[in-house]
Amino acid sequence: MRKITDGAGASGHSGMAQPKDFLHPMQELAREAGLLLMSYFGKVTIEYKGDVDLVTKADRASEQLIVDRISKQWPDHDLIGEEGSRRETGSDFRWYIDPLDGTTNFAHGFPVFCVSMALEHKGERIAGVIYDPTRDEMFAAEKGSGSLLNGRAIHVSQTAHLKESLVATGFPSHKRHKNPNIHFYHQITLRSHGVRRAGSAALDLCYLACGRYDAYWEFNLNSWDTAAGVLLVEEAGGKVTNYSGGPFNIDSREVLGSNTLLHAELLKEFQAIIAGRVEGLPSVAESLHL
Ligand code: IPD
Ligand code: CA
Ligand code: CA
Repeated sequence: MRKITDGAGASGHSGMAQPKDFLHPMQELAREAGLLLMSYFGKVTIEYKGDVDLVTKADRASEQLIVDRISKQWPDHDLIGEEGSRRETGSDFRWYIDPLDGTTNFAHGFPVFCVSMALEHKGERIAGVIYDPTRDEMFAAEKGSGSLLNGRAIHVSQTAHLKESLVATGFPSHKRHKNPNIHFYHQITLRSHGVRRAGSAALDLCYLACGRYDAYWEFNLNSWDTAAGVLLVEEAGGKVTNYSGGPFNIDSREVLGSNTLLHAELLKEFQAIIAGRVEGLPSVAESLHL
């Protein structure tokens, strides 16, 4: 496939003679931001953006670092970062930055979090990098070139039946009273080996990409949560759609990813749940013999 370069030559900002790809500098930057997160880990105080929407100094410091580096290297690229960074100039290139995915985990000292960055060119995501500094795991994907974990090719699992699968989901902190996910959690738990809820959407997608999970879904994510992870899943042979099987959209409130083999079965389950065909829950009193 055509290698999309850093655009430096085309924009006239360069000085660089040779065009180069993005994945290498993206990985360097994600590693640098991940190490910065580690310097704060276990030492931060929790602040609140909403009633249970946490933020820490580390989120802001990581975003600052990433945005500074991107601005220096690619000053004419647009960007959107979770902690408020925006550049909208109509550039062909746009960065999606989640400087710390898994903030609640991070703030509680639970070691499941990462840095996530993706780059879009003319509306198509062309590169994505997710770095987990606690395990030193660097997930990277380039459109048309496959997905890598620490430099080695990764692939989705071969699990063909939901009843043999390990699945993941997440629950948003925003408007949680209105979120219907508990019904999906209940039903898919009964149909699979289990549903994990580890607290980092970006890592959930990475784990689907490398076969640790067989499927993943979540409601109400933002573009910075999914931009890199969805590319990783697709480049590793997986499939990502909305809950009706239609194309995944970066602004959509629905993401359903699988190893491809499970997708039809999952869509059937989701349609049943949406139609209200779910197994009833036992009453608490009866279960406890009260
Ligand atoms: C959150 C995590 C979590 C998901 C939430 C996200 P943040 O991102 O990805 O797994 O369930 O919906 O908001 O706030 O830690 O970057
Ligand atoms: Ca996030
Ligand atoms: Ca975040």
